[in-house]
Amino acid sequence: MAAKVILITGASSGIGLATAELLHAEGFTVYGTSRRANNASKYKFQMIELDVNQEDSVAQAIEKVISTEGHIDVLINNAGFAIAPAGAEESSMQQAQAIFETNFFGALYSASKHALEGYSESLDHELRSHGIRVSLIEPAYTNTSLGMNLLKADAQVTAYEQIREKLHQQMIETIRNSDDPSIVANTILAVINSQNILPRYTSGTTARYLKNLRKFAPVKVFDKLIQRSLKV
Ligand SMILES: NC(=O)c1ccc[n+]([C@@H]2O[C@H](COP(=O)([O-])OP(=O)(O)OC[C@H]3O[C@@H](n4cnc5c(N)ncnc54)[C@H](OP(=O)(O)O)[C@@H]3O)[C@@H](O)[C@H]2O)c1
Repeated sequence: MAAKVILITGASSGIGLATAELLHAEGFTVYGTSRRANNASKYKFQMIELDVNQEDSVAQAIEKVISTEGHIDVLINNAGFAIAPAGAEESSMQQAQAIFETNFFGALYSASKHALEGYSESLDHELRSHGIRVSLIEPAYTNTSLGMNLLKADAQVTAYEQIREKLHQQMIETIRNSDDPSIVANTILAVINSQNILPRYTSGTTARYLKNLRKFAPVKVFDKLIQRSLKV
């Protein structure tokens, strides 16, 4: 049987890279994407250029894979970036739109991810009759360069200065000590190989713990734990 063709966005680092390498090693035909594909030869899988914010770039990347392989079996929407801790009013409309452009169309990080959750669930129902399933893979913090690539809020409020710096350092520290991206890669592999695809999966022990806590702990307890973990 021909190997499944996988397209994974944002495969130049972190979770995307770990997943692309694992799937390639497992024998899948893997196409990864990056906005800078000029050093494509350093990857074991095929790296092609794609900026999820540019319609033309998306069309060209898809065309490239389809013209070579004839089809795409699995699309892993992984490309994304985060914003350094910031109050909602600290981002201009332009910046908020840029985050949605990358994380949703192509929070306000959290908002863009919630939007993506809702959209993915709807899409899963919409596309099922075409034999296509849509799943959310939800890790907690993962040790990638996300913390290094944080976008700064472009209208910072002085009142948040202390807490911002504290949260920023805490976030970088937490990411550094968190799960290896290979854990997410293995979850994705298990989903691809599964006969019974579900709409939503957690990845790693922290994400599983948080999901269970959310499900079973009283709202007040959950709220307290989040506040305590943020140390605010
Ligand atoms: N790390 C965590 O703690 C964590 C936890 C939960 C969820 N996630 C999610 O996991 C995904 C991967 O993040 P990561 O932690 O692996 O971060 P990362 O190491 O910074 O990797 C981000 C990837 O996204 C690509 N990318 C960013 N903007 C893009 C754009 N406009 N068009 C195309 N590609 C773009 C980057 O590629 P180029 O720069 O080469 O184009 C890079 O390959 C993100 O959606 C993130 O929100 C991460």
